[in-house]
Parts: sequence; structure tokens; C-alpha cells
Amino acid sequence: MRIDIITIFADYFAPLDLSLIGRARESGLLDIRVHDLRTWTHDRHRTVDDTPYGGGPGMVMKPEPWGEALDEVTGQEGTDVAVPRLVLPTPSGVPFTQPHAERLSGEPWLVFACGRYEGIDSRFVADARERMPVEELSIGDYVLAGGESATLVMVEAVARLVPGVLGNADSAVQDSFAPGAMENLLEGAVYTKPPVWRGREVPPILLSGNHGAVDRWRRDEALRTTARNRPELLDEIPEHELDRRDQEV
Ligand code: ADE
Repeated sequence: MRIDIITIFADYFAPLDLSLIGRARESGLLDIRVHDLRTWTHDRHRTVDDTPYGGGPGMVMKPEPWGEALDEVTGQEGTDVAVPRLVLPTPSGVPFTQPHAERLSGEPWLVFACGRYEGIDSRFVADARERMPVEELSIGDYVLAGGESATLVMVEAVARLVPGVLGNADSAVQDSFAPGAMENLLEGAVYTKPPVWRGREVPPILLSGNHGAVDRWRRDEALRTTARNRPELLDEIPEHELDRRDQEV
């Protein structure tokens, strides 16, 4: 998968050299390219923003550097698909959830456009929509200083689902929200060695070697955790998907 990120703070993306994503980049599974928006400015001050039409506080990002940046980045060689999917992180976007991460992980090419200030001139988005699919996505109901940290969040959520990025041992099927048994459920408590720590024992069932009983216990734990922290998620699970034991928890 290829991912291009356009930003005025390229250094923000240093963490993408680390850990899982860093290794996936080294192995060639992920081709991540970070671009400085100011490359596409032409004045001495490398200006990317201006005052908003209609008045009001803050600054708006100018459409010209964004338009040129997208033209050049999407015109580059290096992928076998003609157009990427453009992702615009914005607090005004559709809430980004695990199903988005699943779907985007199957795309061959994503471009993230990181806005700052009060956002990017809307004509840039309208222009891009004529040439490629565009998604405005929000990572939560709060306002960040810019799209960079939201892009890091989304890239990590998407990249770990790209086949081969997680090792078999770290499979994503047991994750909270994973499609299938964990849909609309939060992962419950987990334990490792030692079997007793500060007088607290690991639940004996986890040491029993009975895989069926362990699966059942994990599901009950997930239901309990969900009921405690996100009760509204349980309402999303259709009745027929809850077996008898689930309903007792
Ligand atoms: N930019 C600023 N706030 C944001 C948010 N909550 N989600 C995505 N992008 C943003």
C-alpha cells in the first residue's frame, strides 16, 4: 500500500519510522511518503494561509499550494492504480471507526491532506472530488491544532490491518471492534506471567488448557467490559447474535 501525507510539519511523522510501521516500511509492505506543502509555494515567505473571506478569527489555508501539491503527488509514478483516495482529517468529518480502518486497509493508495488553522479553502476539496474519491474523517468530537496527529492515528489504525504488517501472533481478530465475534464489543481483561502477583491470581480458567472455556470466558469478559465502559454499544448487537449465556452476563 502507498500512503502520501501532505503537511507543513513533516517532522510530525517521525514516529512512522518506528515499530510495526517502521518494519513494514523497511520490508516494502508500506510505501509512505511525507511531503512538505511549502514545496508548492512560490513567494519569499512560502505563504500557505490567508485571512478568511467573510471575516472571523484565524486563518484559512490557501487553495493554490494544495492544488499543486495534489496534482504533483498524484501524478507521480510508482503505483499501478491511476488515482488514490484522498483523506481529509477534520473535526467536521464523518467519525472514523474500525470499519473505516478495515475498508481503507484494502485500498492500494491513500493521500492524507493535513490542514491547519481554520482549515483548507473549500474549493480545493471541490476540485479534488472531480478527480478522485474524497473522505472527510474526524477521529473524535474534539478539536486538534491540525490534521497531523489525526493522520498518525488513522495511518496506524489502517496500516496494522494491511495483510502481513501484523505477525500471525499479533492477529487483529481478537481486537475490540474487530468484525465477527468482537463487532461492537470491547476486549476484556488480559493476563501474563507470573500466575500470582501481589497476592492477585490470574483467573484459573485461563490456566485450565480448556480452549472452549477460555473462549467463553473471554467473550463474557468482553461483554462485562462493554457494559461497564460503553453500554450503548450493546444495543447495536442484534438479539439473534447474543446467545443465551451472553444475555445472562
Ligand atoms: N483536525 C482537527 N481536529 C480534528 C479531529 N478531531 N479529527 C480529525 N482531524 C482534525
